Amino acid sequence: MYLEVKDLTLLYDRAMVLNQVGLRVDEGELISLVGPNGAGKTSLLRAVSGLVKWEKDTLRGTTSGKISLKGSVVFNGEEMTKLPAHQIAKRGLILCPERGKPFREMTVLDNLRVGGYLCKDKETSKKTLEMVYELFPILKSRTNQISGALSGGERTMLSIGRSLMSQARLLLIDEPSTGLAPMVKEDLFTRINQVHGLGITILLVEQDVGFAFDLATRNYVMSRGQIIAEGTSSELLDNELIRKTYLGL
Ligand SMILES: Nc1ncnc2c1ncn2[C@@H]1O[C@H](COP(=O)(O)OP(=O)(O)O)[C@@H](O)[C@H]1O
Ligand SMILES: [Mg+2]
Repeated sequence: MYLEVKDLTLLYDRAMVLNQVGLRVDEGELISLVGPNGAGKTSLLRAVSGLVKWEKDTLRGTTSGKISLKGSVVFNGEEMTKLPAHQIAKRGLILCPERGKPFREMTVLDNLRVGGYLCKDKETSKKTLEMVYELFPILKSRTNQISGALSGGERTMLSIGRSLMSQARLLLIDEPSTGLAPMVKEDLFTRINQVHGLGITILLVEQDVGFAFDLATRNYVMSRGQIIAEGTSSELLDNELIRKTYLGL
């Protein structure tokens, strides 16, 4: 078992955003997590990658009121909830955030280098950069361009590239296709599949259930802070209640 989340419960003041969430991702899997807006998907990814803890430690008693996070996140045999976010990232558990915006004024290459700051080994960094450029040739052709000039799809690719530069072993990708045209989406999913093919484990949150279910070997469905179903794509699609109520299909 690679990632195991158990009884993860998150409250902002008294609003329960995650309610005893449990899931697991085995090494090498590509798992999807789907569910309606506001279900808690982003919060779950943020909690797993240590950002909620960061928020709790830095904002407690100031702007955001009380944040309570309980439960366990084990990655590669080690408990993550006790670690600060940068230590979690250092272990290769990397979040590629929703609408993850590269630094607009920086070039594509400099953005990728920022992603690579965790990697102290120059040779590994160089190899990873080559890999990113192979996966996303468009980034290579725009290497010295200002990132603000990229299209939506290219920006998403740059975010994923940046996460790979951080030596991701488990990549949490939050809604990569939101706002992209159908053809751009299709291309993006092919590339995500290639990233997976390189041996990187992926937990993919995606609004486009069709695409997500195509790629994933197993899926979780979330609603109102809870995992309400788990199964292979065909198992979930065969379930009329789930299909109609939660997947909007
Ligand atoms: N920092 C926060 N403070 C208060 N409530 C939050 C915060 N972040 C998320 N929420 C609430 O948590 C719920 C789940 O949000 P989110 O995780 O973004 O869902 P999803 O990604 O599935 O759309 C929403 O009701 C949202 O308003
Ligand atoms: Mg979200």
